[in-house]
Amino acid sequence: MKAIVLREFGGIEKLVLGDVPKPEPGEGEVLLRIKAAGVNPVDFKIRKGLLFERGYPHQFPIIPGWDMAGIVEARGYGAKRFQAGDHVYGYCRRPVIARGTYSEFISIPESYITHKPRNVSFEIAAAIPLAALTAYQSVYVAAGLEKRQSLLVIGASGGVGSFAVQFGRIAGAKVMAVASEKNHAYVKSLGAKYAVDYAAGDFRQGVRKIFPNGADVVLDCAGGDSLLKAYDCVKKGGHLVTIVEKENETLAQGRQIYAHYVFVEPDVTQLDQIRKWVEARKLTVKVFFSFSLPEVHRAHLQIETGHTQGKIVLRIS
Ligand SMILES: NC(=O)c1ccc[n+]([C@@H]2O[C@H](COP(=O)([O-])OP(=O)(O)OC[C@H]3O[C@@H](n4cnc5c(N)ncnc54)[C@H](OP(=O)(O)O)[C@@H]3O)[C@@H](O)[C@H]2O)c1
Repeated sequence: MKAIVLREFGGIEKLVLGDVPKPEPGEGEVLLRIKAAGVNPVDFKIRKGLLFERGYPHQFPIIPGWDMAGIVEARGYGAKRFQAGDHVYGYCRRPVIARGTYSEFISIPESYITHKPRNVSFEIAAAIPLAALTAYQSVYVAAGLEKRQSLLVIGASGGVGSFAVQFGRIAGAKVMAVASEKNHAYVKSLGAKYAVDYAAGDFRQGVRKIFPNGADVVLDCAGGDSLLKAYDCVKKGGHLVTIVEKENETLAQGRQIYAHYVFVEPDVTQLDQIRKWVEARKLTVKVFFSFSLPEVHRAHLQIETGHTQGKIVLRIS
């Protein structure tokens, strides 16, 4: 089968289209024909070896890619939730990074996947799992966002931010987005009531004009200086969620706020809820770039810019 294979860490030239053995579904697993795979910033971080400073287990050759949409091809012993031919999607990060979704087939425990939204293509469905689950687990699970609360999303036009803004709208919260000005119309179309441009000066001033005491929940998708500023944008007793760097407990305690670092986990109950919202047209996904598997280098160049609107996917079969 065709797959993108990484034999050592490095630049985009290390992503090589090759032939590798088709996996067999093990006990409790399903074999999936992958139709499309999501491209996420973690993919270029893995390619460069950046994730492994923390000792994350991995095994070369690595097939990158953590989310996908596809079709059930076969079932292993004991797997019974899906039939051959079912259309599914899922976030497929395994404990050891080795066999990912930039590939024609994957064998994965059936507990990782669920039925894909019926009203969208495989390409659109593949753009959902990792980014949407991250936003869901940040906004709803870690921070417990409620109706009529305020939500500030920093990096609102990217993969995770685009879902977080919509989850804020679905919850009935008042949503403010931090994004570059060219993306303001986009984040407002998703449900942000207010938008502030981080490139036009210190965004904390714009936030204070709208939320004088800070927001109940702040999600930072940018890290670095933005994350430091984010601590000043949270209301006393409110929640700051960071997904790029670990939280700083000293800063959080000094401001009397809760700080959480979220590292996204596979969760099919949440993916089922997300599917219902997509099917009810409450949740939309913008695939800004769609590339074929041999065009993977272009996909990585784009995701590495850190300025992608919406999502990028690879079309596989
Ligand atoms: N912990 C986890 O489980 C987890 C899960 C998913 C992602 N992540 C991490 O979260 C980050 C975001 O992921 P993503 O998929 O949303 O990335 P993405 O699709 O590349 O989006 C990045 C967004 O950040 C914005 N941005 C860039 N520089 C900014 C700045 N200085 N201030 C404010 N916004 C800025 C960009 O907006 P403009 O175009 O307007 O500049 C863009 O919308 C990545 O580092 C990723 O690795 C972590």
